[in-house]
This record gives sequence, C-alpha cells and structure tokens, in this order.
Amino acid sequence: MSTTPANVASLTGERKNGVAALELRNVHTFYGHIHAIKGVSLRVDQGEIVTLIGANGAGKTTTLRTISGIQQPREGQVLLNGQRIDRLPPHRIVEMGICQSP
Ligand SMILES: Nc1ncnc2c1ncn2[C@@H]1O[C@H](COP(=O)(O)OP(=O)(O)OP(=O)(O)O)[C@@H](O)[C@H]1O
Ligand SMILES: [Mg+2]
Repeated sequence: MSTTPANVASLTGERKNGVAALELRNVHTFYGHIHAIKGVSLRVDQGEIVTLIGANGAGKTTTLRTISGIQQPREGQVLLNGQRIDRLPPHRIVEMGICQSP
C-alpha cells in the first residue's frame, strides 16, 4: 500500500510517543488462502487524520474491515487506545467508538 509523504511518519509510528488512538501492528488478513494484507502497521494519534492510498486491490478495504472486526487478522494486532480489539466482534468495536462512513 502506498502512502503520501505527509503521513509516512504516522504510518510508521516514528513521530510520537505514548498510546496511539488507533494502532495496527504487523497485521495479516486472509480470505481463505488469499493473503490480502501482508504486515500492515499504522498509527493514528488523537486528533490526527490519516489517509490510506493505494491501487485497486492493494488492501484498503480489507484494512478497514480488519479494524472494524469484519475480518479477523490471522497475525498481528489492532489496538484502540492501547487495548486490543482484533478478537472482538464488530458490534463491540462499534460500541467502543469505531464506525465507518462511506
Ligand atoms: N471477498 C474476497 N474474497 C477473496 N479475495 C478478496 C475478497 N475481497 C478482496 N479480496 C482480495 O484481497 C486483496 C485486497 O483487496 P481490497 O478489496 O482490500 O483492496 P482495495 O485496496 O480496497 O481495492 P479497491 O481500490 O479496488 O477498492 C485483493 O487481492 C482482492 O482481490
Ligand atoms: Mg476497496
């Protein structure tokens, strides 16, 4: 997945210390045998806007589905305010404050 220069620091988590609002650590998500996202790491701090940019099929939707618990990652972690959410059902994740708007 490609990134713009402005958000590279956010995606690599290099810029800030402390607990991120949202963090993905080395996330791998599959559809059956299809390895759709391969080790995605990103960090969103409180009040920050991060944009995912990538070609068709790069894994943007799968990343969002993994954050929302619609797909469970086979490997890696998703954390909301430092708490793991990657094994919670989607309705619990919504209750914790994550939603998607088209
Ligand atoms: N339901 C599915 N079953 C099998 N493979 C899938 C499924 N959905 C997506 N994929 C595959 O997972 C990979 C990532 O797809 P994804 O839809 O996340 O990409 P995307 O960046 O959102 O693409 P687009 O820009 O077209 O919306 C692609 O190789 C795609 O073919
Ligand atoms: Mg998509």
